[in-house]
Amino acid sequence: MPNLLINIDHVATLRNARRETFPDPVEAACLCEASGADGIVFHLREDRRHINDHDVARLKQAVRGKLDFELSTNEEIVEICCRTCPELATLVPERREEITTEGGLDVIRRQADLTVTVDRLKKAGIGEVALFVDPDVDQIRVVRDTGASTIELHTGDFANAPAGADQLHEASRIAKAAEFAHECGLIVHAGHGLDYENYRLFSRSVPHVREVSIGFSVIARSIFTGLGVAVTEMARLVKGQDAS
Ligand code: PXP
Repeated sequence: MPNLLINIDHVATLRNARRETFPDPVEAACLCEASGADGIVFHLREDRRHINDHDVARLKQAVRGKLDFELSTNEEIVEICCRTCPELATLVPERREEITTEGGLDVIRRQADLTVTVDRLKKAGIGEVALFVDPDVDQIRVVRDTGASTIELHTGDFANAPAGADQLHEASRIAKAAEFAHECGLIVHAGHGLDYENYRLFSRSVPHVREVSIGFSVIARSIFTGLGVAVTEMARLVKGQDAS
């Protein structure tokens, strides 16, 4: 069964909306781990719109499971990631005007600069480096050449597809991409837009997934259930322990 890593960026988004000191994303991370998460994901963006540098240092101290540092190839952020030395670094595209990460990296066009960054992260002692990529075999084919060990498949199109034929089509596209990535010798992760509704179809359809990264749906549900319950419910789904 895949590992469940919970993205706690949105706890910091809420904190920052009121320029407050609470809710604390580090406290949230500890509660997520106590409630069944195998680790924590955060994205240190260039504009620091949610997680800030102080959060990063505190997360590094507090997280007991796997810590996944999402980042762009921005020089300053790469430097902070190298210093933090998380278990996993996931490279993602970043545009200032986007609301959230939109689409995967263009690995074909950016192979040279991605290769340099992957090398820097590995030389800093980071054991696993992933590239966030659309479920597109042409893109996946070149991931290994950058030195990355891992691919995180972008599940956004699947998550946004209306239930029915369109969603089934997207699920099969991700399944083929996961199969191909596995054949290329890559470790397969997945994430973006996975939720309590679409996860069952995702897990039935897509092979070889070792880790999922889920944020918004869990933090959104936590408003009604509390964070502990929201994480436990998602952990049961991901671990196949859900009764329904
Ligand atoms: N994986 C990556 C690379 C992301 O950028 C995000 C969004 O921050 C996620 C997973 C989690 O997506 P969501 O918050 O929709 O679950």
